[in-house]
Amino acid sequence: MKYVLGIETSCDDTSVAIVDEGGRVCANVVSSQVEEHAPFGGVVPELASRAHLSNLPRVMDKALADACLSLDRISAVAVTQGPGLIGSLLVGISFAKALAFARELPLIPVNHIRGHVRALALEFDPVPRPALALIVSGGHTHLFRWQPDDAIVLLTKTRDDAAGEAFDKLAKMLDLGFPGGPLVDRLAAEGDPRAFEFSMPRFRDGSADYSFSGLKTAAAMHLKRDPHAFRDLSGQRVKDLCASFQAAVVKHLLQRVKQALKREPAEALLLGGGVACNSGLRRAFEALAKQAGLPAMMTSPVLSTDNAAMIAAEGWHLWRAGVTADWDLNPNVSLKA
Ligand code: KG4
Ligand code: ZN
Repeated sequence: MKYVLGIETSCDDTSVAIVDEGGRVCANVVSSQVEEHAPFGGVVPELASRAHLSNLPRVMDKALADACLSLDRISAVAVTQGPGLIGSLLVGISFAKALAFARELPLIPVNHIRGHVRALALEFDPVPRPALALIVSGGHTHLFRWQPDDAIVLLTKTRDDAAGEAFDKLAKMLDLGFPGGPLVDRLAAEGDPRAFEFSMPRFRDGSADYSFSGLKTAAAMHLKRDPHAFRDLSGQRVKDLCASFQAAVVKHLLQRVKQALKREPAEALLLGGGVACNSGLRRAFEALAKQAGLPAMMTSPVLSTDNAAMIAAEGWHLWRAGVTADWDLNPNVSLKA
């Protein structure tokens, strides 16, 4: 049996995973840095790279122990090349290079966003194709067509903020804490989604891009109009604003999927990325798929947020296609999907 060891350090999660040639996740260890960054209300890049540096050896040892494997059973090393934070990526790539070089193993460069798509194949086997895959996270909002020939083709993406970033910024405006997405989700459950008005982003040129900066500005305006009403973080106005904002984000996310469904043949609707944890989005996504007569396939929380299992899985795919990196591999902070 062959095993690929995946390394993910693109943002603030240090993760090492091992996936076998049958696509089984033998280990997937994620070390979160939330506690380090929480006092600053967001990810501090310098702190993130330092934490990756000290976490990686321990996280790798735990992954090997979980998989009951020694290093000499590993056949290849896959690592996130980008997109992400430069220092964080650099730490992961340097670690992967050293490991691969010392063990004389192939080094496989992985695109983080494509990893999020590939995560779906770890939970759903087979994923019917062609499928529409919506990947929504703190850094990205992309809609893909995943073709029967395995090509992953970008259909549309955000032209400004990512959806997760918008959730995090609303949480920051309300002073809810970090990371904001799950906190907004929790409060939204007790709020009225019709309490505040949010109009759907629209472009003069009729573009089907995503855009979340307008929704963020609209939330800031609602807050500014009556700041006292939002002081009590367990108060109804806060819950109502979270619910209305979440409903607008979800509506916009699905609006583009509906448009794509009119012209794209699809056998399934796929959802991944950290925001796939959002309860409102999951419900609405499932309802949309039902309406379209398609299966809804959504990654579970551990494979939705950043993890190295998806990097190892995409690594397997690339390795089979003959893709490997040279020792001069560098991070690419703005690697395109
Ligand atoms: O995929 P991920 O772990 O990292 C990136 O590649 O960005 O996604 C993290 C993002 C954060 O913005 C976080 O607030 C958001 O996913 N998120 C959520 C929820 N859980 C995580 N957003 C909304 N509702 C949630 N339940
Ligand atoms: Zn991600």
